[in-house]
Amino acid sequence: MTLKEMIFHRRSVRSYCADEVDETSMQAIRTFMAGLHPLLPGAGTEARIIRTSQANFLQKWKTPHALAIFAEDCDDALINVGFMYQQLDLYMQSLGLGSCWVGLGWLADGEPVPEGMRLAILLPFGNPAGVPLRETSADFKRKALHEITDVPDVRLEVVRIAPSATNSQPWYFTHEADVIHVWREELGRIKQRTLGKMNPIDMGIALAHLYTANPERFVFSRWQEPPVREGYIYVGSVKL
Ligand SMILES: Cc1cc2nc3c(=O)[nH]c(=O)nc-3n(C[C@H](O)[C@H](O)[C@H](O)COP(=O)(O)O)c2cc1C
Repeated sequence: MTLKEMIFHRRSVRSYCADEVDETSMQAIRTFMAGLHPLLPGAGTEARIIRTSQANFLQKWKTPHALAIFAEDCDDALINVGFMYQQLDLYMQSLGLGSCWVGLGWLADGEPVPEGMRLAILLPFGNPAGVPLRETSADFKRKALHEITDVPDVRLEVVRIAPSATNSQPWYFTHEADVIHVWREELGRIKQRTLGKMNPIDMGIALAHLYTANPERFVFSRWQEPPVREGYIYVGSVKL
């Protein structure tokens, strides 16, 4: 399946075999990672493949492999994390592997962290233990299209079904001529503590799906005088 097709069939895989991913797939993953480009140049991220034993998780992960993804301490770097590594999530699932974004994880003591960065998120991946892909978009538990956009724009279906932390789906889209403004829900103080770091990653994931579905046409920019919408944070504007 192409990466665009994977958008409609992927899922978070939490059930794995304990065996190693074969070297051909590992090499393909390394090559794909090396070709990833940030959405927002200048907001640094880095990632390396680790063993799951090199991290501590709240959940048990049977697969031996994970990606440790690091970012500078700013929202734009976290948006880049979502944008770049959601493309890898789709790619890994297109290879027949499973993967899952995991915010509830920490590196083991002594594991190096790139200078000026923090661990942003972990992404265990590996051979799924009999976890089928989704068959239709009815298999996604998500908000309806009209809850995430001011006009019924079917191009946003690829975002509607995107993954997000605790399935929070913090995105909203408004239309102005041929431009789509991208918004993130402003969080209350309590949610900010749990989802504050995750929601910019979610927005990067949403934009990764828009980009993957429209690779030739996708243009992202930020308006000098951004529009304002109460209860939302302006992320940027997209032309498709
Ligand atoms: C930024 C982020 C953090 C996440 N953290 C966790 C986590 O700690 N544990 C977990 O089991 N799933 C985690 N998830 C997976 C979400 O729960 C999942 O994407 C969402 O429920 C939608 O399901 P789907 O990915 O199968 O479509 C995370 C997802 C994202 C995008």
